[in-house]
Order: sequence, then C-alpha cells, then structure tokens
Amino acid sequence: MENFKEKLLIIDFGSQVTQLIARRLRELNVYCEIHPFQKVTEPFLVEFSPKAIILSGGPASVVDESSPRPPMAIFEMGIPILGICYGQQVMMQSLGGKVERGQGTAEFGRAYVNSEQSMPLLKGWFDNGDEQVWMSHGDHVSEIAPGFEVFGTSANAPFAIVANLSKKFFAVQFHPEVHHTPKGAKLYQNFTKLAGFSGDWTMGAYQEKAIEAIRAQVGDKKVICGLSGGVDSSVTAILIHKAIGDQLTCVFVDNGLLRQGEAEEVVTMFRDNYNMPFIYAEEKELFLSELEGQSDPETKRKIIGRLFIDVFQRHASAVGGAQFLAQGTLYPDVIESVSFSGGPSVTIKSHHNVGGLPKKMGLQLIEPLRELFKDEVRALGHELGLPDSFIGRHPFPGPGLAIRCPGEITRKKLEILRKADAIYIDQIRKYGLYDDIWQAFVAILPVRTVGVMGDSRTYDFACALRAVTSVDGMTADYYPFSHQFLGETATRIINEVNGINRVTYDITSKPPGTIEWE
Ligand code: XMP
Repeated sequence: MENFKEKLLIIDFGSQVTQLIARRLRELNVYCEIHPFQKVTEPFLVEFSPKAIILSGGPASVVDESSPRPPMAIFEMGIPILGICYGQQVMMQSLGGKVERGQGTAEFGRAYVNSEQSMPLLKGWFDNGDEQVWMSHGDHVSEIAPGFEVFGTSANAPFAIVANLSKKFFAVQFHPEVHHTPKGAKLYQNFTKLAGFSGDWTMGAYQEKAIEAIRAQVGDKKVICGLSGGVDSSVTAILIHKAIGDQLTCVFVDNGLLRQGEAEEVVTMFRDNYNMPFIYAEEKELFLSELEGQSDPETKRKIIGRLFIDVFQRHASAVGGAQFLAQGTLYPDVIESVSFSGGPSVTIKSHHNVGGLPKKMGLQLIEPLRELFKDEVRALGHELGLPDSFIGRHPFPGPGLAIRCPGEITRKKLEILRKADAIYIDQIRKYGLYDDIWQAFVAILPVRTVGVMGDSRTYDFACALRAVTSVDGMTADYYPFSHQFLGETATRIINEVNGINRVTYDITSKPPGTIEWE
C-alpha cells in the first residue's frame, strides 16, 4: 500500500522459500514486497524506494554467464542489503569476489555455523558457539569481495557469514528464513533494526490505511462482493462496508453444494452482525440440475464456474450501476514467481473463481487484501470484530461438495456426504483438534461395498476422511489422528448415516496427492 513509507524489497531469484522471508519480516511488523529479479530495474528502484533490500536464494549458478543478476544500482543506493544463499553468491560476484562450482563443498540440510566475532546482524545469536542452520547450496563463495570480512564458517562454507559493516552489506550462505534455522528470525530482526525500520506494519494501522484507500478508489460509486462464507471474502466485505457503508452490496450464492448448515450460518452472521445490503441467491436447483449425472472433475468445475458467473451477474445487475467488484485475493496469489523455463506451468485443476466477471461486466476490481498473507487476513478479521469461530474456519473450495463427490453427482450422495462431513467435523471439534488442522472433510466414494449390520446385509457407499496440515495449501501432510479417534469417528458415521457402511482414512500427502479429491 502506497502510504506505507517503510518498505523492504525482496528481489526473488526463484528460491522455493522466498515467501518465507516475507513471512518472517511481516511477523516483525515490517512491510515488504517480493519482486522477481527481471522486474527490478533502475526506474523500478526509484519508484519503490526501499529502505533495505534482501536478495533471495535461487536455483541458478552464478558461475553461468546467463544467470540472473540484480542491477548494480542497488549497491549504490546507500541502503542495507542482505544476500541469502544465491543472493550471497551473486552479491560477492557482483562486488568483486569469486564463486566456484560444487565439487565436494555442497551442503544440503542441517549444518552448523561457528561465529566468534560479534556484529550487529548477529546480536543475540552465537552466544554459545555453534548454531544450527539450514543449507542448500551446490556452489560456494571461494573469495569474498573487497571490503568484506568473515563472521561465520561452517564445515563446507568458509564464508557462511560475511559483511561489509561500513556499507551495511551482509550475506549468508544458509537460509535463516526456514524452520530448520531455529534462531534465524533473530537475523531478520537485527537486519531490519539496523536498517531503521520502526515496525509500523500492524493490522490496526493497515485497516486505517486500507479504508482510506478504498474511499479514494470508490468515491461515491457502488461495489458488489461475492461472499462465499470463507474468511477472505468475509473480511473483504466487512472492511469495504466499514469504508463505504451501503454503497456495498454482498451476494451470497447458495449453489446446493454447501456443507450442512453453512448457508444459514453465513446468512445469520451477516444479517445479525452487519447491517449491509445483502442478497441471498437461492440457486440450488439451477446448479444441481446441471450437475446431476456429471462425473468428470473438469466438467464439474467448468459448469460451476459458468453458472456462478451467470447467477452473480443476474443478481448484481439488480443492484444497478455497480462499477466495482470486490475480491478477497491474497498476496500469495499475486506474487509473480520466477520461472526460468519461461513456459506455462501445467494446469492441475481449473480453479473456480470470479476471474471472468470483471471483463464481462465492465467492472473494476477492488482487492483490499492483496498485500496480506492468510494469517494477516485472520488478524485483520479480528480487528474488524469478526467472530473467532468465523476467522478460524477451514478453507472451503468454490466448487464445494461437487469436488468431494468423485464420480457421478447425485442429490442423494450429496445428502449422505453432508451428514458424514458434519459428524467428522463434530468429532474433530470434540477432540479439540480443529485449529491444529488446515482442512478436514469427507469425500464420498463412487463405490458401494458389502457390509453386515445387525443380521442384515448392507450394500452402501464407502467414504474417505481427509485431514491435512499445511501452511498455505501448496503442500500438505496428512494429519496423524489416533486410532481411537479414527475408530470412534468411523463407528459414528456408519451408525448415524444411512447410506455409508465403510470408512477409510486418506494418508496421501501433497504432492503427490492434492488436498481435494478432484
Ligand atoms: P488442492 O486440491 O489443489 O487444493 O490441493 C488446495 C487448496 O485449494 C482449495 N481449492 C479451491 N479453492 N476454488 C477454491 O476457491 C477451487 O476451485 C479450489 N480447488 C481447490 C482446496 O480446498 C485447498 O484448500
């Protein structure tokens, strides 16, 4: 956001963990943005006007002539710079040092760095000798640039920590942003402190500035917002409502693919707590009649996406004269990640969103969360008085239960699925596990199995329970429930849900699986 004056620039060279640098900084209330190296030109630097720069890691080799470089202008700006891994190597090479290719000096994983000489970047670290860090490098710096001194070494990185103290240039071979560098956050804290950041990036301050920006953007025009009941769209709506009041109308589409009690919960929450124009679009029949009998995952997603746009457009035009469409886009969705191959990545799933709407309807987008990470959105929701039960909700996909019903969709299967899912979530809450889990749901399988209940034969559906932990949904691990939990939950589902006689637990991580079944 323009009004935040203290900005840190992260130049991305394509590391898998660049986003974590931003996370660590945001936790320190420092505002930062990640930009790919190709975009960081001299005019960009002037306009961005960073107070400090971090050079990320990356997969390329500085030894290759064609490898990515930052513009030399960054070293003339008189601001502190921190290079990490590839960022260290490119900094050394650019300033007159040397980097050599691997050959027995690669380090991947846990390593120990020793530092005997203190300096501002290492304050509160290395007080007791060796410290654990996480390394991931093939190349290494073989000669440091003039003006730099060595402050830390590891078995295979004689220049694990280097600095030119008078210029406030620092470079480390390891990754302080990852979990496996347990005290790495200290380094970012020291770096931002010595760069003079006051730590004014708080959600309270953000809220005020976001409200000003929304008022300036919208003026006296009207805004519409599609509500899904998820945290992102709810926070977007409440924030915009706080800024412009009744100029905002929310549209909630009940497509018949929601979980048990979900439509009622969302409607009640908004009607009872927020006095804003709110359209409840009851469109179950429309969606279900088109989806019934469909079994191909992509076809389901496309039908839902198309119908959603139609319905939304129909209801939104009733608002009359809206010029803006509000969306809960988050920062991870807008970071342009570095692609060295330049080729488009494979589409695993065509995600349902309202992407097609703005063009079709001639609307301008308003995305007040596009600078925030998920946990910051939750903090903002908190500031805005959104109930905790809403803020902590597990993510729920746009295509809803349709993609948790592999094979043919039928109303009967959706009904069974809803009941089983409600029991599963109830169990998770009862065991106090809801907040430890990123997402949990039941998928009803397109297979019927034989069972015996009482003295009778049953021939009913099997279902799969899914629960994962994740940071951002990009990768995930299955949740290690106790056998007691699984046994009790399976028994409850089979006893209480007519139509399911077998329960399985999905122990696939992502990758190779995805979180949803379709
Ligand atoms: P996958 O299944 O791709 O899901 O591992 C990652 C996260 O994204 C959610 N998801 C979606 N969310 N529209 C959404 O709004 C979609 O089409 C969609 N597909 C998956 C999924 O629930 C998980 O949180």
